[in-house]
Amino acid sequence: MPGVAQLSVDEMLREAEAAAKAGVGGVLLFGIPDTKDATGSSAWDDEGPVQNAVRALKTELPQLVVITDVCMCEYTDHGHCGILRDGDVDNDATLELLTKEALSHARAGADMVAPSDMMDGRVGAIRRELDHAGQPNVAILSYAAKYASVFYGPFREAAESAPREGDRRGYQMDPANADEALREVRLDIEEGADAVMVKPAGPYLDVIARVKDDTGYPVAAYQVSGEYAMIRAAAERGWLDCERAMMESLLGIRRAGADFIITYFATDAARRLDRAPGL
Ligand code: PBG
Ligand code: ZN
Repeated sequence: MPGVAQLSVDEMLREAEAAAKAGVGGVLLFGIPDTKDATGSSAWDDEGPVQNAVRALKTELPQLVVITDVCMCEYTDHGHCGILRDGDVDNDATLELLTKEALSHARAGADMVAPSDMMDGRVGAIRRELDHAGQPNVAILSYAAKYASVFYGPFREAAESAPREGDRRGYQMDPANADEALREVRLDIEEGADAVMVKPAGPYLDVIARVKDDTGYPVAAYQVSGEYAMIRAAAERGWLDCERAMMESLLGIRRAGADFIITYFATDAARRLDRAPGL
């Protein structure tokens, strides 16, 4: 993606420093391990890229909120968000691995863990494990309403995490269904989520608004890679003014009710807001 790259821990620190200086409040980390296997075992390696990045951030930039993405798809050789049995993701067996990954991130110093796998029961399982292991203050941002979306395409290429076979429709949500989003969100809150996320953001503004109205909980919206890439691509062709399209897309997400936005535009948008608030 234009303006987005895989980073070493040192390079990441420079990017994070620029973000913090611009006024961005936090970062969300994704790891690309050296080796992938069937169970994604490097996900809970205490010396893995995310764990090392969290420790570096907490030392160098303690004012930044550090959130880690908790999922298996960057770590499994088959690219699915859980482990497979007979070609299908095994929900309950995956929970155990996700809790190990989340605990490893928490021990490295993460402020929040963000499970993005969409297995049933994972928020409760992670909460219990964190509490049990003496990490009660680490919060959970749940990817609660995560749709099976084509707009994740550029991310999967960047993170080398596209499923080798099949798709994610067995565990991600049907784009036609908004009621299911509310059910998923309520379940995650009951299981102990501290904040809930709607993803993607732009094509799901109605869902953001309903979740905010229905729960009153902190709602995050994730403007995903494809939403970002569309604006950048149109701007590169001279069809759109990049800065105005960026700000209008973010304003719409905010207007729908998002309390915070995860976006690849974060540093640019923060700089723009600093220069001249509003549109
Ligand atoms: C991992 C994960 C994905 C994204 C965030 N976490 C990919 C997916 O579910 O396929 C997408 C992020 C983006 O497109 O920017 N499960
Ligand atoms: Zn995943």
